[in-house]
Amino acid sequence: MGRFAQLRAAGTGFVVDLAALPVPVVVHWGRDLAGVDGTELDESGLAALALVGEPAVLNNSVDVPRRCSVWPTEAEGWAGTPAMAGHRDGVATTPRPRLVEHSLTDNRLVLVLADAITGLRITLTYEMDSSGVLSAQAALVASESYEVASVSTLLPLPSRAVEVLDFTGKWCRERSPQRTRLGHGAHVRESRRGKPGQDSAFLMTVGVPGYGFGDGEVWALHVAWSGDQRYVAEQLPETPPVLGGGELLRPGEVRLGPGDRYETPISLFAWSGEGLDGLAARWHALQRKKVRPPRPLVLNTWEAVYFNHDLDRLSALADAAAKVGVERVVLDDGWFRGRRDDTAGLGDWQVDTTVWPHGLTPFVDHVKGLGMQFGLWFEPEMVNLDSDLARQHPEWILGVPGEPGPPSRNQYVVDLSNPDAWAYLLTSIDDLVSQYGIDYLKWDHNRDLHEAVTHDGRPSVHNQTLALYRLIDELRRRHPDLEIESCASGGGRVDLGILARTDRVWASDCNDPVERQSIQRWTAQLLPPELIGSHVGPERSHTTSRRTEVSFRLATALFGHAGIEQDLTACSPEEIDRLTAWAALYKEFRPLLHSGRVVRADLPDDGGLFFHGVISNEQGLFCLARISTSAAGQSWRVRLPGLSRGRDYRLRIRGDLGLPSMRQVRAPEWVTAALDGWVRVPGAALVDAGVAMPTLDPGQALLLEVIVDRA
Ligand code: DGJ
Repeated sequence: MGRFAQLRAAGTGFVVDLAALPVPVVVHWGRDLAGVDGTELDESGLAALALVGEPAVLNNSVDVPRRCSVWPTEAEGWAGTPAMAGHRDGVATTPRPRLVEHSLTDNRLVLVLADAITGLRITLTYEMDSSGVLSAQAALVASESYEVASVSTLLPLPSRAVEVLDFTGKWCRERSPQRTRLGHGAHVRESRRGKPGQDSAFLMTVGVPGYGFGDGEVWALHVAWSGDQRYVAEQLPETPPVLGGGELLRPGEVRLGPGDRYETPISLFAWSGEGLDGLAARWHALQRKKVRPPRPLVLNTWEAVYFNHDLDRLSALADAAAKVGVERVVLDDGWFRGRRDDTAGLGDWQVDTTVWPHGLTPFVDHVKGLGMQFGLWFEPEMVNLDSDLARQHPEWILGVPGEPGPPSRNQYVVDLSNPDAWAYLLTSIDDLVSQYGIDYLKWDHNRDLHEAVTHDGRPSVHNQTLALYRLIDELRRRHPDLEIESCASGGGRVDLGILARTDRVWASDCNDPVERQSIQRWTAQLLPPELIGSHVGPERSHTTSRRTEVSFRLATALFGHAGIEQDLTACSPEEIDRLTAWAALYKEFRPLLHSGRVVRADLPDDGGLFFHGVISNEQGLFCLARISTSAAGQSWRVRLPGLSRGRDYRLRIRGDLGLPSMRQVRAPEWVTAALDGWVRVPGAALVDAGVAMPTLDPGQALLLEVIVDRA
């Protein structure tokens, strides 16, 4: 290897100057700086890149050019967020790392730093995936005792990237986007909930102002971690702006002894020159490396029966589900001992024989006999005080002994770092999975962790998170085909740490399509549709009380891992017919929806009107969704994103789910034609000029199918 290490993939480049001692410097992260013929810059090109990128030495500042090293510390005169903080009994707070080893193989750069002050040996690993996503992880090994306060992986941003997009939210309003302008100082987002939470930053994106779905240059970070976490975008007057993050540690949480090791979560960085859709495509490509069988159409029993478990009623529900075309039935909360409502039972993971006198076998056999898979709800990390587990093992409950603080949904948290508690959970779940041949676990987590200390008073979110990962990993090892959903009250634990070992998320407890359109649109900024649980609920939403049109609910639930969350036995024959047609449509488009590129149009009426779709080289399925009315009379021409202007296409309206109601004297003429059959349109007309859209009533959706015209 020469002076520079260069990682490149899918149009993204990352260049490190190894000669910039004592700590290598990041020379570039962004668009791949390939030569005209696509080959990588040679050493002289890279030397020129480093030369022209070196800034002035400023007045009233340290007397060296200020660049961003791979491990910024005060030793470099870095006054921003440092790569690490910590101490040994109040000393060794000013690390002075220096590069001692490095290697570059298969797009993987390993840098080893040694620090005489702290006694730490730091291994930093960067790896560029073929999607262009750059992962960064640090491992710290202590030679003497050392308390780690924080470690942040930081990458430099160009000064033109000043518009931040991240997310907030609450239960039933997850992934609510917020944009801010980055000034001098730090824009920081932290989670102290023991999980990312409903208000998780989720993905911090910083771009050149004005970026949208289809255009603009953006740099983004996701911290693949299910515990407490921190994101930062920071700009100081004299040093390069940075984007970074890592685990948020509590005082004393990571105390290393000689030979001990602390590994950071993986930070995932992605760049796009094609706006937020281009960025989403990279995240999706990364996650699609894990091959999953076709995502079965789900029926989840929660909103159909809640805690009212009854074999006959649930069997009738399964019968109706099978007729509609459901492929997996998930028995939700309420099946285990004492769980007749949400005040009791959590922790006692044995079937409640008062409601299931013959165990779950009759129901499981019934479901499987109908040709469907069987899934079961758990909330392993939680406990009600009214449970045998809490009565017999109060020492397994996380928190101040005997004073566990206020309950949340009547529940507390099991200390997974306690080996006995962990083993009990593993055995309980493992036994049930084996006994009933369970195909799928819905893994819930319905409260935040507060005062998450073990009984000796030590903060424990770090260990709790690792123990959770070990628990899931061991279950997966024992049951390789078992699938798991990360639920957490819907959307409370959506991160690529949990998704490295689970198969989808329940995006939100809100099935109201007006809210869901937005929740799914933004969850898809990181996750491909097939990982986003999206169920159709009843007419009146149980979380917003809003009544919505069935065709709108169905069109919304189609664009994810689809399912049903309502009592089918109470549906009219017309509703069942509609759901059956929808199930068939889901199966028809599933190969496209679960492998294609997610595209979203940038519309002036954003918020009132959404246009989104999934496309491949050959076809596309788009949805025009009117969320609310607009002051504009027309919906105007919408340009279809992602298609090729050089090709010809055919389009038609899919009325399988029923047609939306519209508010106009006459729909655009193409609508009438596209309801009758295919309409041929050149790609340039679709991509550059756009299609005049009808004026839908609020709470209505139109499905548009597009295929390449081969005639
Ligand atoms: C919260 C989940 O998000 C719901 O889907 C349901 O499983 C309930 N918990 C059950 O208690």
